[in-house]
Amino acid sequence: MESERIYLDHNATTPLREEVVEAMARALRDLPGNPSSPHREGTLARKQVAEAREQVADCLGTSARTIVFTGGATEANHFLLRGVLGHSGSMDSSHLVTSTTEHPSVLAPAEQLEKHGLRVSRIPVDHEGMLERSVWLETLEESPSLASLIWANNETGVVQPVEEWAELASACGILFHVDATQAVGKWPICLEKTSIDYLSCSAHKLNGPKGVGCLVHRSGPAPSPLLAGGGQERGLRGGTENVAGIVGFGVACELARKELTERMENYQILRDRLWDSLRQKLPRIRRNGPSASAILPNTLNVEIPGIQADILVEALDLEGVAVSAGAACHSGSVSPSHVLIAMGRSTAQAQASLRLSVGLGNTSVEIDRAADWIDRIARRAGAEGYDGG
Ligand SMILES: Cc1ncc(COP(=O)(O)O)c(C=O)c1O
Repeated sequence: MESERIYLDHNATTPLREEVVEAMARALRDLPGNPSSPHREGTLARKQVAEAREQVADCLGTSARTIVFTGGATEANHFLLRGVLGHSGSMDSSHLVTSTTEHPSVLAPAEQLEKHGLRVSRIPVDHEGMLERSVWLETLEESPSLASLIWANNETGVVQPVEEWAELASACGILFHVDATQAVGKWPICLEKTSIDYLSCSAHKLNGPKGVGCLVHRSGPAPSPLLAGGGQERGLRGGTENVAGIVGFGVACELARKELTERMENYQILRDRLWDSLRQKLPRIRRNGPSASAILPNTLNVEIPGIQADILVEALDLEGVAVSAGAACHSGSVSPSHVLIAMGRSTAQAQASLRLSVGLGNTSVEIDRAADWIDRIARRAGAEGYDGG
């Protein structure tokens, strides 16, 4: 990343750690073999994949045999939903519980399966983005086949009580999947202490490479293979492994595990500094999401009344500050964030909202400069109630 730029979009993706780059370069150069081959080259590649599997498993607090490598979290989410619900005979008897604030990689396959007869219940959220517990408890009584809930929201950083909800689901014999893509590396996770059956995550959200992730399958039925053939990944995900990507994922997980506490503290200091500074400069600014503990330490989603966030994002980019007007996959589109709308914001409020996410490499000097630019550009853009000074 160019050194003079200020990157505050770590929930979209993160820069690679140097250790990850080095490990991947070594794998690309020194591991030419196919992990399925019996010869020395194949054995060396296979060993590295096995080591990475251990590193990913340790980071998630589970055993290596539960990890199925995929091409990222979108694939893992599709794999799980289609693999558990889509092939279980008649869709008419299947019932999925999810929420209104999921990532599109869960919302879209749920909608597709719904067209084929799947019953889908979507739990609403309150104005802070927390799932409505009473609706969850009512839905449990209907004995759904599977619950699929996001652990930490990519737009607001809101963290849901999935560990407790997994216990409730387990007591009722309901399978429980968590999309933990934003939580891994930013929130403590120890699957062994939970009743979570399945979990999806992605390397590029924790300073690893893009295009690699995993589905964790701890208990419950194995999902039907999304990509059949080849027999890789216990026959669940055919195709020659992305060896260098998997090695990079492993190293990123190992670093995230060792540095979690320190990272969480640093992120929170920077994020709170940004919020305090913006609050002082722009008195009408509002925070989307809870300010207390149930939020990722790196994420700040704010509404600046009167601005168009997509225009602000472009102007900030020209000044060297990278932020997001919503989820990255929505950028370029002017439709308001479904997450903020689900939290009861109006279209105008959602379109005036900015997502700022800090991460490795950010400094307090950068935070202060970014806050100055946001203030200056918001005023220039005529944010309601500001004097344009
Ligand atoms: C919560 C969540 N789930 C899933 C995904 C998809 O991940 P990937 O880019 O690895 O497909 C993302 C990425 O933005 C995400 O934030």
